[in-house]
Amino acid sequence: MAAALDTIVPRVRDLRELRSGELAPLLDEELAAWQRDLDWDFRASADLVRRFVHMQALTGFALMSGDEPVGYSYFVCEERKGLIGDLYVREKFRTVENENLLLGSVVDALMSMPFVRRIESQLMMLGPGMSRPMPREHRLQAFPRLFMHAPLEPARDLSARTPKQRTLFEVWSERRQEDAAGVIALAYEGHIDSQINDQYRSVGGARRFLLNIVQYPGCGSFFHPASFVATDAGTGQACGICLSSLVRQDVGHITQICVTPEVAGTGVGYELLRRSMVALAEAGCRSVSLTVTSANDNAIALYRRVGFEDRRRFAAYVWDGF
Ligand SMILES: CC(C)(COP(=O)(O)OP(=O)(O)OC[C@H]1O[C@@H](n2cnc3c(N)ncnc32)[C@H](O)[C@@H]1OP(=O)(O)O)[C@@H](O)C(=O)NCCC(=O)NCCS
Repeated sequence: MAAALDTIVPRVRDLRELRSGELAPLLDEELAAWQRDLDWDFRASADLVRRFVHMQALTGFALMSGDEPVGYSYFVCEERKGLIGDLYVREKFRTVENENLLLGSVVDALMSMPFVRRIESQLMMLGPGMSRPMPREHRLQAFPRLFMHAPLEPARDLSARTPKQRTLFEVWSERRQEDAAGVIALAYEGHIDSQINDQYRSVGGARRFLLNIVQYPGCGSFFHPASFVATDAGTGQACGICLSSLVRQDVGHITQICVTPEVAGTGVGYELLRRSMVALAEAGCRSVSLTVTSANDNAIALYRRVGFEDRRRFAAYVWDGF
């Protein structure tokens, strides 16, 4: 039986032709992989996938070995942008060829949509290697990124730091959403991360980014008690934010940290991050993770100083200009 399976040439099938039950073994394996490799409870995301497949509303493809789905990838469209939400191929079938068959199908489907002009993806479960062949390479940019992890018990002993200018720190509230969007747009102007995520390039884009983070489970469930806003005590203007989520009952995640260029390098980022880490520890988390672009030396230096270590390397892929 195994030999017969091995000789079957995988093909792709539209996800909307599948019944949600057919994906169960695949999603179970993915759930275990996120847990093992990233300390991440993937259940909320897997449930969303199941629900949308059940409604025959998830756009994407399944990699089929015979009648069995052994991989899947889906995408969503946001105005002129296609976002590849996830790609997972079962370990037994994980080859660059199989991954690229799926990825190529998704990229081609998006490129054939007349209104789509750009594709973004951050696929944590794609096989590693920056030098791997990729579909449609002539339109592709790859950005190496790191998934970092820190224990939270030592964070309680990090010393509080008073930034050079008088700064107030307050716990996140909804009414700060607009201020936060402004901080993001300023902080990422000309920054490498705004090549990866074009929502960072404008206040309107940053608003959509924040809405996604607060409402959807892709980056964990938003956790406002460990999210902070820094404001200039003199002007009342917001100058920094650190947002966090729970990716497991006892694991936090920093979904965003940035400060305005005016205050960069003055201790605001450190103090925001320290406060988020202490608040996560107090909420019962034992560790915290984040992702960062490998070229972002300032941020990585800050993360290492408060105890983060590298856990996984992956890449952000962007197809543009087609
Ligand atoms: C990364 C970031 C949040 C750090 O916040 P920050 O307030 O500038 O950091 P801090 O002032 O607390 O300092 C952290 C250390 O890094 C150094 N540093 C950080 N950013 C710096 C900058 N822009 N210029 C010079 N030094 C900087 C500081 O010298 C400091 O070291 P020290 O404690 O030995 O003095 C901030 O630079 C930023 O918003 N960058 C743009 C957005 C971004 O990259 N976010 C992270 C995405 S993963």
